[in-house]
Formats: sequence, structure tokens, C-alpha cells
Amino acid sequence: MSTAGFMVSTVDDRKSVVVLSGAGMSAESGLKTFRDSDGLWEGHKVEDVATPEAWQRNPEAVLRFYNERRRQLMRAEPNDGHLALARLEEGYEVSVITQNVDDLHERAGSSSVLHLHGELDVARSTVDDRLLYRLHGKEIRLGDVCDKGSQLRPHVVWFGESVPAMEVAEPIVRGADVLMVVGTSLLVYPAASLIDFAESAARKVWISPKESADVLPLGFEKVLKTAAIGIPDLVSDLLAEEKLD
Ligand code: APR
Repeated sequence: MSTAGFMVSTVDDRKSVVVLSGAGMSAESGLKTFRDSDGLWEGHKVEDVATPEAWQRNPEAVLRFYNERRRQLMRAEPNDGHLALARLEEGYEVSVITQNVDDLHERAGSSSVLHLHGELDVARSTVDDRLLYRLHGKEIRLGDVCDKGSQLRPHVVWFGESVPAMEVAEPIVRGADVLMVVGTSLLVYPAASLIDFAESAARKVWISPKESADVLPLGFEKVLKTAAIGIPDLVSDLLAEEKLD
């Protein structure tokens, strides 16, 4: 028997689901959102801990704040929403684009996670952005330096800093068959502008326990549920649809 002319296709013809997640994604894992209650983030004003000016003024306080966030993250676990997104890979090509600096998507098993605002468990050189160091839960202290001898800082995007990962994120959103927006107020730019890159034919779903006021453009289905409840429901529906196709 000849196999001439027989071609094995290596093209991934699964549909693409793109998830844009924000702080609400991790709320049920015990990590606080930014803008929900008192206008403070874990008791701090954003401009005291998450700006280049704060770093210039009081680097020790900034390091202490992020060291505490990192300790808190080490104790947190992915919730049912994170776990459902990992399960969705059984039937779809899933890309997670997150504004969160936690690693709960990765720990739940998602294989493609882009961090728009950096990662809490990574330190970065203050003279060379390419020098990154995984912390494995350790603290950054004043005097901890990179290979070029300069102070290390958290690898997070502060207010007023650019978001280099946007260039990578935009084409991913353009390729979405389904865009799932979860747990974000869509108030912080440029991340919020990503939803505008979705094709008009893409299915667009918003999952959040609160109404979206006027931040959502037309064409979004709204699921007024928390991430740990709304995502598993949607994932079950999406997986069932694929099996029926
Ligand atoms: N499940 C889903 N959504 C939730 C939940 C939940 N359990 N709890 C709260 N939310 C929603 C809130 O109603 C709100 O719309 O999550 C959203 C959280 O919004 P923000 O606190 O503004 O967080 P986010 O949009 O991620 O902020 C963007 O701003 O502070 C900076 O860099 C930081 O990445 C962050 C960015």
C-alpha cells in the first residue's frame, strides 16, 4: 500500500478563546481587587506604592509593599475560574492575557499566559529591562542587585510606565473566535483598549458580578456572576458546543 499523496495536517483548527482577566479573577482566591471598596489597595494609596515617583521617594516602602503582596500570593490558590480555563484547553486554543501580577492562571494549568502588567514573583534590574530574576517567593531588599550591580525592583508595570506586552497582545485578540473579559473594571489603559481589537464576528462575553456601567461597547453578552461561578458555566457550554459540532 502506498502512502504517496497522504498529508498529515499540523494546522491547529481548534477555535481560539482569548481571555482578558483582571483583579476580579483572583478575588475568590483571596486577593483584593483595586477599585472595589475604599479606593485603597490593601490599605495603601496607589500613588504611594505603584508609581515611579513612589520608588524614587521611598524604595524601601515600595519593596515592603510588594514583598507582602508576594507572601500573600504564596498562600493563595487558584479558584474554580482559573481551573476551568485550564480545562477549556481540552477543546480550544486558549490564550490568557492578564492584567494580574499573580501566577494563579499558570498554577491552575493554563499553558499560554501573557502578563500585561508584569509578575509579582519576578525581579528586574533598574538599568537593564532584560535582566529578570525569578524570586520563588523570596523578598527583594534594598541592596539586592542585578548582574550589572544596580538595585533590583519588582517586575511590575507602575502607573505612568509603558506596557510593552501590548504589541504581543493586540494580534492575539484580533485572532479570537471568542473573547472572554473577566474581573476587570476596564478603567486602566492601554489594557482596556484591547477589547477594541476583537473582530466584529467574534463572540464577546463579559463576566463580572457587577454591572459594567458604560465601559462596554455593544456586542457583549453579560454574565453577572463571579469568576469562580461564571467561568465554569461558560466553559462547560463551550466544551459541549465543540463536541456537538
Ligand atoms: N469575579 C469577577 N469579577 C469580580 C469579582 C469576582 N469575584 N469581584 C470583583 N470583580 C470585578 C469588580 O466588579 C471590578 O469590575 O472585578 C473588577 C476589578 O476591577 P479593578 O479593581 O479595577 O481591577 P483591574 O481592572 O484588574 O485593574 C486594572 O489597574 O491598579 C492597576 O495594574 C493594576 O492591573 C491593574 C489595573
